Parts: sequence; structure tokens; C-alpha cells
Amino acid sequence: MNNIQKLMVPEPDPHFFLSEDVIESMNRIGLLSERHPVNVLIAGKQGCGKSSLARQFAARNNRPLATFQIGMLSEPGQLFGEHALKDGETYYRKFLFPEAIQTEGCVIHLEEINRPEHPKALNMLFSVLSESRHIFTDELGHIQVADKVVFFATLNEGDEFVGTEMLDAALRDRFYVTLLDYLPREVETRVLVLKTGIDEKDALTIVNVANQLRDNTREPIIVSTRHTLMIAEMVSVGASIEKAFSIGLQISLDMLESVLLSLHVESKKRIGAYHGRNYLRY
Ligand SMILES: Nc1ncnc2c1ncn2[C@@H]1O[C@H](COP(=O)(O)OP(=O)(O)OP(=O)(O)O)[C@@H](O)[C@H]1O
Ligand SMILES: [Mg+2]
Repeated sequence: MNNIQKLMVPEPDPHFFLSEDVIESMNRIGLLSERHPVNVLIAGKQGCGKSSLARQFAARNNRPLATFQIGMLSEPGQLFGEHALKDGETYYRKFLFPEAIQTEGCVIHLEEINRPEHPKALNMLFSVLSESRHIFTDELGHIQVADKVVFFATLNEGDEFVGTEMLDAALRDRFYVTLLDYLPREVETRVLVLKTGIDEKDALTIVNVANQLRDNTREPIIVSTRHTLMIAEMVSVGASIEKAFSIGLQISLDMLESVLLSLHVESKKRIGAYHGRNYLRY
């Protein structure tokens, strides 16, 4: 698992936007990590930019990134390596995780930390994330977390109460917590324009429809920033907005039509205030 992945500094995304607040926090995390390894927990809705934040933190700080799916772990030692067979002999094959934590300044993204398949799978992570920053395994001996390492754990806000007893009790305590949400309307619109090249009017319509669906309290539909980007891309190659929504989200045309109609009525009576002022390029 993950042993094909290499430790590389990720590409910067020139169009990644964050609130000033979060940018400040990230800069401080960078400073703290010069003193000792740091743990950061990013919580937020599906597709709101959590993985991108870990990636862009690495890119901005010129650090290698390694990502691990904690949600897929089914036993404690699985991150470290496995016994394998070669020419009829068994040997221990070391995975990327022990290498990453021993690499100075590495950014280590632990995805879906709130839902490992097996709760004990988190056990070995605890020691790495705790003050000692040290772990012993039978196969690899003592492993010490290198200087300047930053752990970014991400969890989906909606899943927060799935298998989180351990997270609450022992893990949450060890993290700086940052909450992310979908971008304000104006900023998301700008991101769609910058990343897909569609015109601003179309981008705004996509974001307005998305926000209506997100805010619909009776039947909320998850429309992630990933979705709005996919829909915008579809539009950039000639699809109508209706078509792009129905293929991107599988919502019925009836529902879409009623949202578009209500937007049309609404836009006549309301000129929105600008809410994106404190958002900047990261
Ligand atoms: N603040 C942002 N600025 C620019 N693009 C963004 C932003 N947030 C998200 N995106 C874009 O939206 C897409 C989804 O983001 P990402 O994969 O980081 O979300 P996530 O929260 O990790 O999703 P998941 O919950 O599925 O793990 C990416 O293509 C990313 O570039
Ligand atoms: Mg993610």
C-alpha cells in the first residue's frame, strides 16, 4: 500500500483561495514546525478543499507531501509495511509511511482519520502523534519522527460522529483544529472563472444554484466545490448549465428548473453584498 508513491513537493495551485484567518494560521503552523513536529486537524464538508489545503501548505513551504488513507486501514501495522514473498523467501517490505515520518519537513496527510475500518488501526499512529514522537515496531525497530514534520489529518464534518470516540478522547487533544467551509459566493465564482475559463455570468449562476441546493433545509444536496468545478468544466466545453448540472449531480430537471426560476425571481429584487473581501490567494 502506498509504496509506489514517492515523496515529492506538490505543484502550487495559483487559484487556491483561503480566508485571511486560515492563511495566518497556516503561516503560524509553518513557524511552529521549525521548532518541533506539529499536528493539524482540518474538518469540513465534503469537497470543500481539505486535501487541497494540505497539498498547498506543502507546496507553499516547499516540502514533500505524503498522503495516507486512514479510512482504509484494517489493522494496526498496516501503514508501516508487510511481509512479502520473494524467490520463495519471506521478507519485510517497508512502506512509505515510516520513510515519510523520518523525512525532515515532510507534510503527512492522514485522510479520513475518523473512520478506520478497524479502531485499533489508529493505535500505532497515537505514538507518532504524541509528545514522544517515537514508535517501536518488531520489524523496523525504533522510529523517531524527524524535525519539522507536519501531520495534517482531515475529516469530513458530516461523519464526525462515526467511530470518533477514540478521536475525541485521545487524538483531538493533540491537534490544532481548523474548520473549512465552502467558499463565499463571490470567491467560488472567481475560482470557477479562473480554473475553467467560463464567463462570470455562467459561473455566478452555477454557484447560485449550488448554494440553493446546499441551503435547502428540507432536502439538502451535497454540492461540493469539486462538483461546481466539474459543472463549470462541462459548461466550458459547450454544455448548457441545465445539462451540466443534470450530468454532474444527477438531479432531476424539474428540481433544477424550480431552482433556476426562484433564482431569476430573486435576482430581480436583490443585489448581493460582497462577502469575499477577507479571502485571498494562498
Ligand atoms: N478554496 C479553494 N480554492 C480553490 N479551489 C478549491 C478550493 N477548495 C476546493 N477547491 C477545489 O475543489 C476540489 C476539491 O477539493 P479537495 O479535494 O481539496 O476537497 P476535500 O475537502 O479534500 O474533499 P473530500 O471531502 O472529498 O476529501 C479541488 O479541485 C480543489 O482544487
Ligand atoms: Mg480530501
